[in-house]
Amino acid sequence: MFNNLTAMPADPILGLLTQYRQDNHPQKIDLGVGVYKDPVGHTPILDCVKKAEQLRTDTETTKVYIGPTGSEQFNRLMSELAFGQSHAALLANRIRTVSTPGGTGALRVAAEFIKSCNPNTVIWVSDPTWANHTGLFEAAGLTVKTYPYYDYDSKTLKFDEMKAALNSISSDDVVLLHACCHNPSGMDLSVEQWDEVIGITAKQGFTPLIDMAYQGFGDGVDEDAYGVRQMAAAVEEMILCSSCSKNFGLYRERIGACTLVAKDSNTANVAFSVLLYVVRCIYSMPPAHGAALVETILGTPELKQQWLDELTVMRNRINGNRQMLVNKLIENGVQQDFSFIANQKGMFSFLGINAQQVEELKQQHSIYMVGSSRMSIAGISEANVDYLAKSISSIL
Ligand code: LMR
Repeated sequence: MFNNLTAMPADPILGLLTQYRQDNHPQKIDLGVGVYKDPVGHTPILDCVKKAEQLRTDTETTKVYIGPTGSEQFNRLMSELAFGQSHAALLANRIRTVSTPGGTGALRVAAEFIKSCNPNTVIWVSDPTWANHTGLFEAAGLTVKTYPYYDYDSKTLKFDEMKAALNSISSDDVVLLHACCHNPSGMDLSVEQWDEVIGITAKQGFTPLIDMAYQGFGDGVDEDAYGVRQMAAAVEEMILCSSCSKNFGLYRERIGACTLVAKDSNTANVAFSVLLYVVRCIYSMPPAHGAALVETILGTPELKQQWLDELTVMRNRINGNRQMLVNKLIENGVQQDFSFIANQKGMFSFLGINAQQVEELKQQHSIYMVGSSRMSIAGISEANVDYLAKSISSIL
């Protein structure tokens, strides 16, 4: 049976990790996978996580099964984090959440849930979108189509074209939107643009699926949830996939959440029963450790404040890196305008070079980024930015 298989290429993002680790160049730079790094290139465990972990070790009394829902306390706190404590949809009991194995797990659960609603659903994703979105939705049996989003030439949003596309999407379809920190472009909708997109969503009646993998990395925890909160107030149904990988630094713990917003409490109960069945059929129940850490942090005022402070440090560092790279490119005599990098948000931006130049950066300078020229901005530091700018300048 295995003889029928053809080997798959390495994952365009995760494959870079292996190549980078095997590279012995003393000045190698990792701008590949989207993980936060401190100024010395280390991905630290947050202090609030360390404290929550200690508390958990001291107080945990059982490892018994948790059930497909995961921790109800975690689910409640995650909903409040996403929607805000007094959101009308929460007060009306229209929201149901399950803990999931990371944000990717949340997306897969959402995809299977959508298939249960209608196996012929078309899901529309931005062009471009996270490299794994398409494969993930197709693997679940959905048809994936794209709507215009990022203009590689002008480094701006193709907002008019996006709106025109959304205006022709039918009520049977699902549209995936990035809550903030668009992956891979770093190009987010403004508040006014969100309002327009929400208006079109309500008018057309398609179901929004919002992927929020970077809450707190754009402008702030509440600011980054603007689209999520307004959308939930304006439409009857939506799906939200959240991740705790980046904002809590819990990457390998695999913890996220899939949330349904339904038109009323009864519909939410029925939809939730289907969601739990989906979970049971894929992985039965989610891992508990990451959820326990997040619920301890969000449920303990001092730890929550510490988390918000640590998140602010991460966000500010990434924003600082953006400006630092732009300045260094100018210092190194680069004529091309890269100021857009400083204006974009979150973990990523496209450098805007072609695949051959990306390859040159890797082969000749040991600088690793995704083939599309997506850079993980957190990999830049005071120590490597000069080498990075000089190398970019040499391949332009
Ligand atoms: C990324 O886009 O680099 C991250 O979301 C990590 C991943 O799983 O691809």
